[in-house]
Amino acid sequence: MKRSVIYPGSFDPVTLGHLQVIRRAAKMFDKVIVAVLINSSKTPTFSIEERTDLLRQVTADLDNVEIAGFEGLLAAYARERGVTAIVKGLRAVSDFEYEFQMAIANKKLNPDLETIFITADSDLMYLSSSMVREIGSMGGDISNFVPECVHDRIVDRLRYKK
Ligand code: PNS
Repeated sequence: MKRSVIYPGSFDPVTLGHLQVIRRAAKMFDKVIVAVLINSSKTPTFSIEERTDLLRQVTADLDNVEIAGFEGLLAAYARERGVTAIVKGLRAVSDFEYEFQMAIANKKLNPDLETIFITADSDLMYLSSSMVREIGSMGGDISNFVPECVHDRIVDRLRYKK
């Protein structure tokens, strides 16, 4: 039986931490669906097209990774796609409470759904998209935080952000 997993997030923009989770999940599962949240209460800096495009570029070498946008409830999207596992990256302990709450809520909404946590490497534990946005928009060096192949695109976009 083919095992698929959904890796959901805002990916605003993709970081080395996200890429590490995708690569690890791609080794564990037959297929990884990276599900990019389209509408959220937060207004993203990068459009849905930009976020999915950057993700496609950084996962181009991974045959079993699909990049997709999703709207609404994750639990409903998983049901629609016939997927019963979600993977999330856990960084510091500070992530735990929020992620634990979401895992329980998702399980209540869709009892077939399991949430699996992958821990980040210690050098990526501090990393977040919001940190990348802040440093990049102020002209700081983000080369240790984002995949090399999309570095220049992200830098340009943040520098000339409206
Ligand atoms: O990268 P993020 O912003 O931490 O990702 C959050 C995401 C997209 C995983 C979360 O906001 C989500 O699942 N949103 C979809 C709406 C939903 O299902 N909400 C209830 C979750 S308990």
